[in-house]
Amino acid sequence: MRLAPQPSAHPLRLIVLLLVLLAEVFASPVLSTGCPDRCVCDDQLVVQCADQHLTAFPVNLPLATRQLIISNNRIKELPALALNYLSDLVYLDCSNNSLSEISESTFGNLRKLAYLDLSFNTLSSIEDRTFGPLSSLVMLRMTDNPGLSHIHPDAFSENAALQVLDVSRNNLTSLNITSLIALSALRSVGLSGNPWSCDCDNEDLCLWVHLEGFKFQDEGQTVCGSPVDLEGNRLGEVGLQLRTLCHQTLGSWDYLFFVLIGFAIFAAGTVSAWFMGVIMVLYERYIKKKDQQVDPEEEGEMLETGSRSDQENGNLNSAHTV
Ligand SMILES: *[C@@H]1O[C@H](CO)[C@@H](O)[C@H](O)[C@H]1NC(C)=O
Ligand SMILES: *[C@@H]1O[C@H](CO)[C@@H](O)[C@H](O)[C@H]1NC(C)=O
Ligand SMILES: *[C@@H]1O[C@H](CO)[C@@H](O)[C@H](O)[C@H]1NC(C)=O
Repeated sequence: MRLAPQPSAHPLRLIVLLLVLLAEVFASPVLSTGCPDRCVCDDQLVVQCADQHLTAFPVNLPLATRQLIISNNRIKELPALALNYLSDLVYLDCSNNSLSEISESTFGNLRKLAYLDLSFNTLSSIEDRTFGPLSSLVMLRMTDNPGLSHIHPDAFSENAALQVLDVSRNNLTSLNITSLIALSALRSVGLSGNPWSCDCDNEDLCLWVHLEGFKFQDEGQTVCGSPVDLEGNRLGEVGLQLRTLCHQTLGSWDYLFFVLIGFAIFAAGTVSAWFMGVIMVLYERYIKKKDQQVDPEEEGEMLETGSRSDQENGNLNSAHTV
């Protein structure tokens, strides 16, 4: 009874093996019939579709594609469904196209993707979790999108493997770095050529550039676009300036307090000076009175002094009468 299933296990195993083999055969770009029109597919699982005047994402891509290059075309959209079949994709170059939107689902299944290039497109905004599923992403290039003015603070928060991030030459005025500084592998950041606003909202960014300038590519071109008086200054230079400037947050009560304290110190000074003056005058008078009432026994010894002081008294008295 125990051994009974064994004979039937063999054909079952064979069928499973056959299915696996078949799946591999169909998935393999070399053996599958599929290679998109105007693209070149090689046996290294690289699909090259650059410079082909494509206006749409290529169809009929080999499922096991590891590198897909669709740069220098006029592709307007990355269809989430077609892209997410390519779960072995490691390298995706979409630079120089007409992509204007990337959504949370676009890269939903690309867990092996290590390189992503979205440069030279027409993106305007990057939302929360756009790159969330890309847990293996090492390098993200997203330069030269002239209208890209907003990146959500948490856009990169789950890209723990990210080492290189380049967002140069976009239209960014601010960047919340809270999630970026938490990425421990990050070693190179490109921020140059953006109209950064160097105000207190961007204090953290400027201080980051100041403290870890070595991380930043083209740090000399990473300059303020506003306010007018800081235009052209490097972010790294204004970092400390902003830190001092942005923490002078005194309220009106603080100013009132300082005014009152100042007045109190002034008043106390005046009063004590007056008091000291009075004491001095009283003391002088007391000394003089004492001099006039010298003991008769000591009069002989003190004759000279006494006569001098009498003289002085006389002078003083005459001055008084004048
Ligand atoms: C973008 O692609 C076009 C062809 O579609 C090409 O003429 C142009 O030089 C490319 N631009 C860049 C910056 O690579
Ligand atoms: C860049 O952003 C500013 C507003 O911050 C906007 O006025 C300007 O039109 C944008 N530039 C482009 C090329 O979209
Ligand atoms: C940056 O983003 C974090 C998390 O979204 C938020 O808590 C923080 O206040 C933001 N910082 C600034 C300066 O806006």
